[in-house]
Amino acid sequence: MEKIFDGKVAIVTGGSFGIGRAAALAFADRGAKVVVADWLENQEDNVNDLIKSSGGEAIFVKCDVSNSDDVQNMIDKTISTFGRIDYAFNNAGVEGHNAITHACSEENWDKTISVNLKGVWLCMKFEIPHMLNNKKGVIINCASIAGLNGFAGLPAYTVSKHGVVGLTKTAALEYAKLGIRVNAICPGVIHTAMIDRVTGKDKEVEKKYIQMEPIGRMGNPEEVAEAVVWLCSEAASFITGIAMPVDGAYSAV
Ligand SMILES: NC(=O)c1ccc[n+]([C@@H]2O[C@H](COP(=O)([O-])OP(=O)(O)OC[C@H]3O[C@@H](n4cnc5c(N)ncnc54)[C@H](O)[C@@H]3O)[C@@H](O)[C@H]2O)c1
Repeated sequence: MEKIFDGKVAIVTGGSFGIGRAAALAFADRGAKVVVADWLENQEDNVNDLIKSSGGEAIFVKCDVSNSDDVQNMIDKTISTFGRIDYAFNNAGVEGHNAITHACSEENWDKTISVNLKGVWLCMKFEIPHMLNNKKGVIINCASIAGLNGFAGLPAYTVSKHGVVGLTKTAALEYAKLGIRVNAICPGVIHTAMIDRVTGKDKEVEKKYIQMEPIGRMGNPEEVAEAVVWLCSEAASFITGIAMPVDGAYSAV
């Protein structure tokens, strides 16, 4: 793998599992030093160990992205360990509970918005000053096809992801002349623990989710990670302010 990110530093929130884990490994494969930030450490299949065993550099920082002290601490650790931030994949998210709008509990609303939307904003708030110092940086925020379409039964999640798209476009405008690109990715149905929780691993329910995908299958985390690292690369140097579907044509329907 060409080391296009040699000497660069990438933060991945929600990096212990799923899409974030795949992105952390993809950044490391390309030579980046990686900060895996998550509120849970993956004890069984630790991303840091994997990166270090293949000669890369990585640290794990325990961080709840909805807590500003945790996010500030995560950024401080990044700077004290690696000295800079080049790329940030603000990916941590929760699906919340399935309930139509009037049945959505206040607790579900607050928690989902707090992690998925406030969490992305807090990460940007503390990442951007360091990117401004370097006059360069790339931020990728994890939205969803639920950031582009309505989703019956997931009001808080859908609002949080539409919010991420709006925040991404706003920040892209604010920092475009200051060397920072800001984009969102909008994954379709991606086979991770999140989808397993949603389907309950029930084959019939899984079939319904697969049927939603024009491409005829779920995506895998690595396919999303490839889009993330490409958007961070110089190949995407004129791309900022987009919400890019990675969704097997879901949003084309
Ligand atoms: N899987 C899909 O089909 C799909 C589709 C569209 C968007 N997404 C989005 O992709 C992102 C990753 O989802 P995934 O499918 O990999 O899910 P996942 O549940 O497999 O992984 C989510 C990761 O985020 C971490 N996390 C959750 N809340 C956190 C918090 N408050 N602070 C820090 N870390 C936290 C979890 O511990 C986990 O490591 C999410 O933002 C999700 O909304 C997923």
